[in-house]
Amino acid sequence: MPASRIEAGVRTFDFTAQEFSSPFVDGARPTPFWSYVPGLLPLMRVRRGEPLRVRLGNRLSEHTSIHWHGIRVPNAMDGVPFITQKPVYAGETFTYEFTPPDAGTFFFHPHCNEADQVGRGLAGLLIVTGDETEPFDDDIPVVVKDWRIGDDGQFLPLYTPKGASRAGTFGNIRSVNGVSQYRRNVPAQGHVRVRIANIDPTRIIEVGVEGASAQVIAIDGNAVEPFHLDSWRMGPAMRLDLAIATPKPGESLRVIDYAQAELYTLAHLTADDRIAPARRNPPRLIPSPIPEPDLSTAIAQSFVFGASSGPLGEYIESLDPNDPLTAIILDTLCAGPQTFWAINRRSWPNDGHRNLPPPIARLSAGKSYKFTLQNATPHSHPIHLHGHTCKVLSASKRTIPVHYADTVLVTPKERVEIAFVAAPGDWMFHCHILEHIETGMMGYIRVA
Ligand code: C2O
Ligand code: CU
Repeated sequence: MPASRIEAGVRTFDFTAQEFSSPFVDGARPTPFWSYVPGLLPLMRVRRGEPLRVRLGNRLSEHTSIHWHGIRVPNAMDGVPFITQKPVYAGETFTYEFTPPDAGTFFFHPHCNEADQVGRGLAGLLIVTGDETEPFDDDIPVVVKDWRIGDDGQFLPLYTPKGASRAGTFGNIRSVNGVSQYRRNVPAQGHVRVRIANIDPTRIIEVGVEGASAQVIAIDGNAVEPFHLDSWRMGPAMRLDLAIATPKPGESLRVIDYAQAELYTLAHLTADDRIAPARRNPPRLIPSPIPEPDLSTAIAQSFVFGASSGPLGEYIESLDPNDPLTAIILDTLCAGPQTFWAINRRSWPNDGHRNLPPPIARLSAGKSYKFTLQNATPHSHPIHLHGHTCKVLSASKRTIPVHYADTVLVTPKERVEIAFVAAPGDWMFHCHILEHIETGMMGYIRVA
């Protein structure tokens, strides 16, 4: 937990984006990772309604910024270089100041050169407290992120045309909270809160729990009517809070990622001799004050997440990812960074923001909107809208409860409907597979 202090009533943190060095695996060569504070992936815990200030210094050799993912900040604090602020150039500082309006599990990361900056470690968890009616018997962050590191300890390429033109480039070392096997003791026979945050640039996980019963209590930080967790798919940037009933002393439970044929244990929790106070149900969470969209007047707009216009894009969209020939074709076609993804056939240019495109939609502040997100590709895309917490109404290929979220997974050929009340500003709207951002699947909406 990075140090903070109260300055004239404001909770203040000093962050400096810089390179540190440490071995990631026992006995391996040191890796030059990037972080805001000494140590990997800082975890901030702040209170809802408490003014927050974060001074960001930049000791990297390239510009950076911090985006507060999922927090309904004023537009000027949203951390998007060239859109909401000047880039924080090497040697410069920028001060973020806002008061988190909602409690829950959030995270933060730069909003430029993302595959590289996040891939090297620039990210952290932001827990905003204040949503509990009574405390849980433990509160356990589970921050999921892979690393791509060679035998020499150096990062392997974090962007590859081959990955970018498909589901993304995967890491070769998995981790939770920066360690490869995350274990922890928990009080027995109680209820613990587990905050899962998938902050990986690429990986989609499917979370389940074995050895205990678990309820979903929040999605992307937003309280839901608790429901039993069977399994829940989480793309990059998505969060899930669970209430897990812990077993008898000495017994253990596991939080598991089922997405791959080979299961990966995200957290191994063992009940110790501390017996939690008797309580039949987990504590309730207090819902956040999210503006409720009016579906009877909501203005409908639709967005197709697909390939860029032109023959290359249309061809890429038509390829079958399971056909071995596809890989060979894409390797040839997509060599070198270029844009091949798009929203409504418009690609975000990969030219260092020399030419900012016009907004992809213009909305009126305070009005309700219903967006249909349509996936025209054979890959899943976690779609994120900045500055808003959206009501997820339906998904055409899955049964999901109506819930609030800032990032929704849209599976191949699926249609997902979301609704929200527009807040003023220019807000980025993009896929959160970081290589898909860099190859065009991004735009912004202008709300005035
Ligand atoms: Cu975490 Cu623009 O996103
Ligand atoms: Cu994507």
